[in-house]
Amino acid sequence: MPMLLTSPIGIFDSGVGGLSVLKAIRAQMPEEMVVYFGDQGHIPYGSRPMEQIREFSEAITNFLLARGAKIIVVACNTASAAALKYLRGKFLHVQFVGMEPAVKPAAEATQTGRVGVLATPATFQGALYASVVERFANGVELLQSTCNGLVQQIERGNLHGAETRRILENALRPMLEKNIDTVVLGCTHYPFVIPLIQEIAGENVRVIDPAPAVARQVKRLLEAGGLRNDPSVRGDVRFYTSGDPDALKSLLPVLLGESGEVERVGWRHDSVVVPLEG
Ligand code: DGL
Repeated sequence: MPMLLTSPIGIFDSGVGGLSVLKAIRAQMPEEMVVYFGDQGHIPYGSRPMEQIREFSEAITNFLLARGAKIIVVACNTASAAALKYLRGKFLHVQFVGMEPAVKPAAEATQTGRVGVLATPATFQGALYASVVERFANGVELLQSTCNGLVQQIERGNLHGAETRRILENALRPMLEKNIDTVVLGCTHYPFVIPLIQEIAGENVRVIDPAPAVARQVKRLLEAGGLRNDPSVRGDVRFYTSGDPDALKSLLPVLLGESGEVERVGWRHDSVVVPLEG
């Protein structure tokens, strides 16, 4: 498919997490068209084997490219940990932007020398995290939590409820007792609970949301490639899910602050994304 200025930015995540990145992209580049894919039929990714996440990510990339994507944003730390390097090697002509836990800015900002990192088990196990820690932690102590069950609560739109609070308190209390002053959000679902994190941790703890920096990187790459859309237009977003389209549709105004139509897609042999009727 030829690449045009009007071609969309392709974004994917296991579910609604990538909407935190999409929100930043919409704020910085409202003229860009976007195709968003949430693999809600397979969520959560965080407890799956790396190889399987790679397979899903490759199929979703093919799906987004077939819809004309001019760049692919892997708006999922887990998929980035499992598949970003693989995707770059496989699709040599495609530009990818991925996520990595923001250990570098956190290590630069901390005064206490202790930083909390919230991410999925797969992200913590991946080579990407190990390399970020090795390059940037610089003697700073990182306290990690996988916040089990938090992704599922956010998928239900439960951003403030008792269970969400319980999970976050369990994760953050031991970190706060050890005097962390910075929290890294290493999962794209988590920016939606920043108000609750801030309430539990207090306003003096800095919470790092990587989404605006990722959106700036997308913008830089599009500019460098001469691929920015006409700034006078308003880009629209097409949403696809392998889960329940009505559930995603009803969450869009809450999480993204705008509404949209959601199409349902299916998986064939867990390796090809196929359009579905109705
Ligand atoms: N949003 C994904 C991430 O950034 C993880 C959610 C999942 O476990 O599926 O890591």
